[in-house]
Parts: sequence; C-alpha cells; structure tokens
Amino acid sequence: MSDALPRHEIRHVHNARVARGTPPDAAARAILSRETFAQAAAEISAWPGYAPTPLVAMPALARRLGLASVAIKDEGRRFHLESFKALGGAYAVRRLIEERLRAKGVTGPIATADLVAGKYRELTRDLVFATATDGNHGRSVAWGATMFGARAVVFIHENVSAAREQAIQRFGAEMRRVPGNYDDSVRIAAEEAARNGWIAVADSSVGIDAHAPSLVMRGYGLVMSEIDSAEPDPTHIFVPAGVGGLAAAVAAHVWETKGAAGPRIVVVEPIRADCVFRSVAEGRIAATLAESDTFMACLAAGEVSPAAWPFLIGACDDVVALPDEAAADAMRQLAAGLDGDPRIVAGESGAATTAALVAACRDETVRASLGLGAASRVVLISSEGATDPDTYARVVGQPASAV
Ligand SMILES: Cc1ncc(COP(=O)(O)O)c(C=O)c1O
Repeated sequence: MSDALPRHEIRHVHNARVARGTPPDAAARAILSRETFAQAAAEISAWPGYAPTPLVAMPALARRLGLASVAIKDEGRRFHLESFKALGGAYAVRRLIEERLRAKGVTGPIATADLVAGKYRELTRDLVFATATDGNHGRSVAWGATMFGARAVVFIHENVSAAREQAIQRFGAEMRRVPGNYDDSVRIAAEEAARNGWIAVADSSVGIDAHAPSLVMRGYGLVMSEIDSAEPDPTHIFVPAGVGGLAAAVAAHVWETKGAAGPRIVVVEPIRADCVFRSVAEGRIAATLAESDTFMACLAAGEVSPAAWPFLIGACDDVVALPDEAAADAMRQLAAGLDGDPRIVAGESGAATTAALVAACRDETVRASLGLGAASRVVLISSEGATDPDTYARVVGQPASAV
C-alpha cells in the first residue's frame, strides 16, 4: 500500500455480548422495530425532494485494501441538508406535531402535504421545538419545524463553529450559544424547554424520556433500508457514532431483518470521544467524560444514549476508535478520488468510516479480528458532506464545490 493511505493507530473492542441470534425483546422493539422503521420510511419518502442517497462503488480502494468490494453510502447527498441527520430530527418534529394537533382535537388523517401547505398553520405556528446540537441534528429540527409550520430554538456549545451555526440559522432557527460541551448544551436545552413550554427533540435520551430520541432513530432507519435495496448482502457495515443513534438504527434494522446472518456491524468513534467503545468494553453505559472534544465534531459525545444502548450492546459486533488525524487524511483521500475512484465530499465525521477501514486493513491484528479479507464486501456510511464548509476547505485545500 502506498503513502496515499497513511498508517494510523486504531483501537478495537469486540462486543462479547452481541445477541443477534435471538430477536430483540419487547422493550427494545417499543423503541425500534420493523414496523416503526416502515412507518418512518413511508413518511420521509413522501417529503418534497426525497431521493435515496447514492451507494458509490470504490473499486480501487477495495483493490488497494485487498477486499472484494467497498461501497460508500454518501449521506452528504441527503436532501439539501448534507447529512443523514435530515431524516431523524425532522421526522421527530413531524410526528410530535401530529401528536400536538391530536391533543388540540384534530381528527382524521393529517397529511404531510397539508402541513407543508400550511393548512394547520393556526395550530402549529405557536409550537416551538427545542434541541441541542453539534450541528446537523439542529439543522434537521430547524428544517422540519419550518417545513411543517412550527418554530425551532437550537442550543449550541462553545466549540460549534460559526459556519455550522449559520447553516442552522439559514433553516429558520433561533440560535442560543451556551457555555460548556455538547452534554452541557443537551442539559440546558432540556431545562429551557421545560421552563418555556417548548417541545424538546433531543437525539439522545440521557436524563430524559426516550420518546423523541426514539422517533429520531426511526427516521435514521431509512439509511439502512436504502442500503438493503442497493447492496443486499454486505459482509461489513461501518457506521460512525456520537451518542449511538445512527449505529443503533442500523443495528436494529439488521437485527430485525437478518438476525445473526446479517453483516458485521462495526461502530466507529474518535479516541477523544469514545463513549460507545468504553461502554461496550464494560458491558454497561460508561460514565460521562468531561472532555469529549474532537476534530470529528459531530461525534463529540461523552455519553451513549440509553435509547440506543439495547441495540449497541445487542446487535453491534465491534467498536473501533481513531485519532483525529485519521479522519482528516480520509477527507483528503475521498476528495482526491484514489486511482480513479469517484471523488466524494465527506466532512470530518463522514470520513471517519473510511479512515477506520483503511486503518483496520493496515493493522494485521485488527484486520484479522474484524474478519476483513478477500471475500469482504464492505459498506461505509459517510454520514455527512461538507457541513462545515470552512473546515472542509481548510483541511482538503479546496472548497467542496471544487471536488
Ligand atoms: C455527520 C454525523 N455523523 C455521525 C453522527 C453520530 O450520530 P449519533 O449521535 O446518532 O451517534 C452525527 C451526529 O450528530 C452526525 O452529525
């Protein structure tokens, strides 16, 4: 392998408790199930502008790494929000609006087209959705609230870039910047929502009811059903994790539809924010880290979402953790298009899975532990495009529009 793919440290833990051979229990299925995924998929695929994101074949990368195939699910092309997060927050807003309209006495079907057209505007305009975000979840909540005729207040922590703040604002949210890290912003958003009578739409259920975070994860399930339609038989799926919501949705989908016969699910985290890694290693949700700042900005979570946990421990096979530089290198590799492979715009968190596959393949022990070899058909979820355009241009050396 040439220096076009530099070597990076990779840490690996196998999940000794994975239990995909038996179906999820009733408590887990109340959070995510085949039925709830189908309901979300039917709803989201009817939204204006919906199209499945591409699954891009990367034959040169596969050859270079000695694998049968590598394909990248490019969530940078998700609606015009440029990340899979478009699916979750906005779907939760849609469902919570419906619940509020029912509480106000609306009966009969509430069509998405009617909400978008403003038929219920008198009832929705006073609904305020509140959330905390590293960037993309807030953008989704703001987009959903605006699309369905409500309002959004979005809380961001000290390290969220100005570019990410502006991007959320463009979707119509009122922004509040608060001191501390991501977990502090989650707590403050929940407190402010309770104080003001706003509707909280967190993507993590730490310290709160699992209802809204479960709706968010149901929306993410669409990523996996699209992968299923395009590549029905992968051997490995690499998925990034912050609080674990996307990984849980992918794992739950595989658990429900394929059980133990499904692909090996490899969760990817930054070493500097490795809450899933530590939790899977300990077999229980590990204590919060005070410092969870990382270049992979959207993966900067200090604590696993309890609503995601049954699927992380029950259905994810492995967790790997990487240094920040590995993601920056992968952003550049994907932008350059290795040996004629398609060029892909992947942001700091989006590139993490490619970084993990490259690092895993270059470490003989991890490669063997993950069962990666000449028969492997690997799907990498690139969870975002250049959602922070300034950082993207600085790291890659050119703006996303030039890639
Ligand atoms: C681009 C991107 N990738 C991955 C993640 C991680 O998702 P989760 O927090 O559900 O694990 C996020 C979360 O914000 C994200 O924005």
